Order: sequence, then structure tokens, then C-alpha cells
Amino acid sequence: MSQQEKSLFDRLGGKDKIAQITEDVWLNHVSNPDVATRYANSDAEKVKAMVNEFVCWGTGGPVDYSGKNMLDAHRTMNITHREFMAVIDDVMRALDKNDVGAQEKNELLGLLFSLRDQVIHQ
Ligand code: HEM
Repeated sequence: MSQQEKSLFDRLGGKDKIAQITEDVWLNHVSNPDVATRYANSDAEKVKAMVNEFVCWGTGGPVDYSGKNMLDAHRTMNITHREFMAVIDDVMRALDKNDVGAQEKNELLGLLFSLRDQVIHQ
């Protein structure tokens, strides 16, 4: 199977690698002054588990996502565009740290941006 035919899940490195990326995204969020307070009252293990499932599922992995849809997950938070961009930055830095390639980074970026209107101003 060529690289193009593989799912983004496989090209990111599968479950273990995505779990490591999720951990790094979380560490970036809680140390990012633009968004850290948003996560202050969250159950870290639960949010990480849900985000991990969501990314595995959304990139074509053999995983069922058991969490809320993006509209319900972020409803009443009134998240700003600036916060959305801060979260994207945190994800991109985590991808760099884990040596994810440019093609895969771009595809994940596209997926995240496609969710923007379900996440901000809700
Ligand atoms: C495309 C971008 C985003 C994606 C894919 C995403 C994904 C998720 C997922 C999967 C969950 C867990 C849902 C559940 O518990 O069932 C979650 C929770 C959460 N998200 Fe996002 N999120 C995004 C952007 C943001 C932004 C920009 C913020 C604000 C800074 C944010 C703040 C939160 C918070 C605070 C929680 C935890 C709520 C709790 O403690 O239950 N998210 N997100």
C-alpha cells in the first residue's frame, strides 16, 4: 500500500503515537496563557482520553468515538477565534515535537479548521 493510500491515522503512527501527541497537546494547553484557564476545572485524564479517541476516529483509525459532538462539547463556552488559533498552535507544536511530516500536518490542520464553526462562538 502506498503512503497516499494509507489512512491519516496510520501515517501519523497509529494509536500509541497519537496518544503521545495528545499528551503533548494537553501539556501545551495547560501552559499556554491564552487557553490554560479553560482547562483548569477539567478532568485531565478524561479529556485526554476523549481527544485521543476523537483524533483516532477522525483520522480513519479503528476506534469508535464515545464523547460529545464538537457543538455539544464546546456549547456555552463562547470560545473566541484567538483561542481557537491558540489551540491550533498547540497542536502544531505537538506535531513538530513528534516529527510528524508536512503532508500529515496539513491534513490534520484541514480537519481541525473544518470544525471551527462548531467550536467558536457557541
Ligand atoms: C478543532 C478544535 C477542537 C477540537 C477537535 C476539540 C476537541 C475536544 C474534544 C474531543 C473534547 C472532549 C469532549 C467530551 O468530553 O466528550 C473537548 C473538550 C474540551 N474542549 Fe475542545 N476541541 C477543540 C477546540 C477547543 C478550543 C479552541 C477550546 C478553548 C480554548 C476548547 C476547550 C475545551 C474544553 C475546556 C474542554 C473540556 C470540557 C470538560 O472539561 O468537560 N476546545 N474538545
